Amino acid sequence: MKRVMKKILYTLLFLLPLTVNAGTGRAQLESADIDLTDSASLERGARNYVTYCLGCHAAKHIRYKRIALDLRLDEGNVLKNVAPLGAGIYDQMHSAMNSRDATKWFGTTPPDLSLIARSRGADWLYTYLKSFYADPGKPSGVNNAVFEDVAMPNVLWQLQGTQVAVTKNIDGQTVIAGLKLDEPGQLSPKEFDLFVNDLVNFLVYVGEPVQLERRSMGKYALFFILMFTVLAYLLKKEYWKDVH
Ligand code: HEC
Repeated sequence: MKRVMKKILYTLLFLLPLTVNAGTGRAQLESADIDLTDSASLERGARNYVTYCLGCHAAKHIRYKRIALDLRLDEGNVLKNVAPLGAGIYDQMHSAMNSRDATKWFGTTPPDLSLIARSRGADWLYTYLKSFYADPGKPSGVNNAVFEDVAMPNVLWQLQGTQVAVTKNIDGQTVIAGLKLDEPGQLSPKEFDLFVNDLVNFLVYVGEPVQLERRSMGKYALFFILMFTVLAYLLKKEYWKDVH
């Protein structure tokens, strides 16, 4: 009986991600390679976020000071290489865009992305940023395979190039089978993947900066448990020495 229950439980756990994926328009999400110990990647991600995203999306939960602390970077370098011109070290990642202009231009306000990695997940973000394709019927000229009729323009098109959708027919419905690079951009597909991965890595970090601290604390905790186990074992041996 217990075994059957276990089997059912595992099957349900296995099916969970599939149900989450359903309805995103594309069956499979690509996997982001998240590594919060890779400070160089996080720094590149932060810099690229400021260059390509901050114009529209704030990330108010994080300050430049915190980035410097967590990534062990010099504050002056963070101001010079990461933050936009004129920002102070205690500033939050504010966007220059105000919501009235945004609504006029996009019909909606670009959301703050502080917690986006937690609500959408790293794989979704990674796939989303790679899934813009040319769609002349849309105001921005693009659509997105995992976010239909998205109001965001493809801000990375110069790096990525232009993709077109390859469609197929299932039961009389046209669905997207995949995306194909139609015109190459400044980066090769591999370089672009790394670029997007750095961005997503950074957004995962911003979603929970404490993770970095927690991880280094985890090491100490494990070390402590290990030492305690050894101690307990030696103690047990000592106590039971005369019993046998
Ligand atoms: C020119 C303005 C602009 C820039 C620059 C921009 N975005 Fe957006 N973004 C938008 C708008 C507008 C939306 C809202 C789309 C909608 O709701 O249809 C959006 C939506 C999003 C979403 C989906 C949020 C949700 O509702 O789940 C993500 C994720 C996102 N942007 C990430 C980024 C990243 C990462 C960058 C930088 C590479 C970036 N954006 C740059 C305008 C922009």
